[in-house]
Amino acid sequence: MGKKYYIKTFGCQMNVYDSQRIAAMLKNLGYEKAATPKAADLIILNTCHIREKAAEKVFSDLGRLNLVKQERAEEGLDTVIGVVGCVVQAEDTEIAKRAPFVDFATGPLTYHRLPEILTRVARKRGISIIDTEFPAVAKFDFLPENKAEGGLSYLAVQEGCNNFCTYCVVPYTRGVEYSRPVAEVLKEAKRLVDTGSVEINLLGQNVNSYHGEDENGKERNLAYLLRRLSEIDGLQRIRYTTSYPADVDDDLIACHRDLKKLMPYLHLPVQSGSDKILKAMNRRHNSADYLRIVEKLQQANPNLRMSSDFIVGFPGETDDDFRATLDIVNRVKYIQAFSFKYSRRPGTPAAVMDNQIEEKVKKERLEILQNLLFSYQLKFNEECLGKTMPVLFESKGRHAGQLIGRTPYMQNLHAELNKTNLNKIINVKVTEATANSLSGEVV
Ligand code: SAH
Ligand code: SF4
Ligand code: F3S
Repeated sequence: MGKKYYIKTFGCQMNVYDSQRIAAMLKNLGYEKAATPKAADLIILNTCHIREKAAEKVFSDLGRLNLVKQERAEEGLDTVIGVVGCVVQAEDTEIAKRAPFVDFATGPLTYHRLPEILTRVARKRGISIIDTEFPAVAKFDFLPENKAEGGLSYLAVQEGCNNFCTYCVVPYTRGVEYSRPVAEVLKEAKRLVDTGSVEINLLGQNVNSYHGEDENGKERNLAYLLRRLSEIDGLQRIRYTTSYPADVDDDLIACHRDLKKLMPYLHLPVQSGSDKILKAMNRRHNSADYLRIVEKLQQANPNLRMSSDFIVGFPGETDDDFRATLDIVNRVKYIQAFSFKYSRRPGTPAAVMDNQIEEKVKKERLEILQNLLFSYQLKFNEECLGKTMPVLFESKGRHAGQLIGRTPYMQNLHAELNKTNLNKIINVKVTEATANSLSGEVV
């Protein structure tokens, strides 16, 4: 019997992408996917360090996995437990201390060494192997070729961040910015399309600061990459995420006018509407800059709608600062958003600022903000009633005969449709709308 693996993924889409690449690597080594941790010889947690809660969840999960390891040992079965992702980069010694039963830990930039790590683990059982250096070579060169797993594929084109927002751990966990060469990206994209994807979502911590080399060694920006990608036959939809507002250039704005394949939805995190707070966060935009960028983008494509991330209760945030955040929401009318209470992250400058906000205030502000965001989300969904939209169906619904897909605006849409339509784009008329999803009928 072949060995089985189980991967649990926390965090952002970049982690989802990394987990897919890890799975492909394990399949090359002869592993098969297990349905549960209990059925797996190798259990991997792909972790996120962005907020305290996410990081703590890793340790509670590891506790549970240790029990699984013990249960399996009673049945005479060996289990290897590995931790990968951003928590490893930030808390390697903590993992060794709090979870000594972990067999190996490797950071987000070193997981291409997994085959070698697994061989070493097999040789010296019980000794943790921790690999957290920032390597000089790009992991992408060492990963086996991936294939489409559905109609939508993620494709990492850029990794790392040089922005050092004062609240954020990402520059410390993912390292400095790195852009993959243009040819490599195009090759991966073509392979994903040839194996069944119709939509590609380009990923990067700072995707619009992409500056990869082309075939002649010339540095190219994200706009260039988007134009080249849009020439791929069979690729119908392109998205990119996440963008840093100050790095949106005119070239990129023009893509939203010119490229039909580029979806009319952009995630452009503003974080706060207060200029004082934006400055304290070390964001390189103020609220007027941000609004100007959104206006230009929507002039280029009047159908474009925005989403964002928000942090409430950043150190020093007053009621007036918070009202400025509500103001910007009222101006931009985001159709989706993620909002968080500020979380103090060890090692970041904001964690030691002395004007920290009380938990109670953070909670109140988050609730007010989320209610407002929710109202715009519902309003937009209701505006879609009666409209026909192309929907990419990605998964089966809760009931038999139902599929769930995404509209161009990333709304979830349910429709009665048989499963031969999975991974295809189909025109659907929207018949029902709630704040979180749409229902529709095939036209
Ligand atoms: N590179 C992206 C964001 C990556 S992190 C950007 O610059 O927009 C995803 C989101 O997590 C951030 O946009 C931010 O809203 C949130 N976040 C990051 N650090 C946080 C912290 N310490 N507390 C609360 N939210 C945080
Ligand atoms: Fe974090 Fe800021 Fe970099 Fe985004 S731009 S990853 S929020 S440091
Ligand atoms: Fe989390 Fe790392 Fe992504 S900290 S949000 S998994 S880059």
